Amino acid sequence: MKFFVDTANLDQIKEAFDLGVLDGVTTNPSLMAKEGITGQKKILDHYVKICEIADGPVSAEVISTDFKGIIKEGEKLADLHPNIVVKVPMIKDGVKALRYFSDNGIKTNCTLIFSAGQAILAAKAGATYLSPFIGRLDDTSWDGMELISQIVHIYNTHGYETEVLAASIRNPLHIVKCAEMGADVVTCPLNSILGLLNHPLTDIGLAKFLEDHKKANQ
Ligand code: E4P
Repeated sequence: MKFFVDTANLDQIKEAFDLGVLDGVTTNPSLMAKEGITGQKKILDHYVKICEIADGPVSAEVISTDFKGIIKEGEKLADLHPNIVVKVPMIKDGVKALRYFSDNGIKTNCTLIFSAGQAILAAKAGATYLSPFIGRLDDTSWDGMELISQIVHIYNTHGYETEVLAASIRNPLHIVKCAEMGADVVTCPLNSILGLLNHPLTDIGLAKFLEDHKKANQ
């Protein structure tokens, strides 16, 4: 399972890659706004900065919602750097755009997925990645992990090549569950990735090893 970091914060992206377990980056318009990146030029420049740090796919989301606009914006984003993946929302014109990008060799990430039906459409349209939002489903009392399991089953059954990129991850347990269920990728906040490190018995065990070593070597 690949690990992507879900942020537009350059320091966090650097820290995540320095850890040596990262495979890519996802962003969205809310994450860009959170970093204070506004205006088309600054936004495009920021994607290039992310690509210079990240050694792997970088999802950059379109703002347009009509077919022509999505294509124009997506082609401009794809021209920025070979690692750019054009993130397209699950809407009717988005599905048409996924097919266009797929036919023209541009990688895509179909975002805002909340149902298996949407996942089937995106795969049929040739999406490279599919982003089901686990945390946002959990927030509405639906089981986000159940959706991941259902989509993985459908994709495996029918041999769809679209990769399941589990998004809206809120904690380390989501990551572990995604691994169990066969998600191809998880995109996570840095804190959830770092949360995988933690176990009290590791801390207690290490303290004891160091203490015993110190005593024996006094
Ligand atoms: C990633 O591609 C999504 O945009 C992101 O994971 C959404 O996460 P959130 O629900 O925590 O905003």
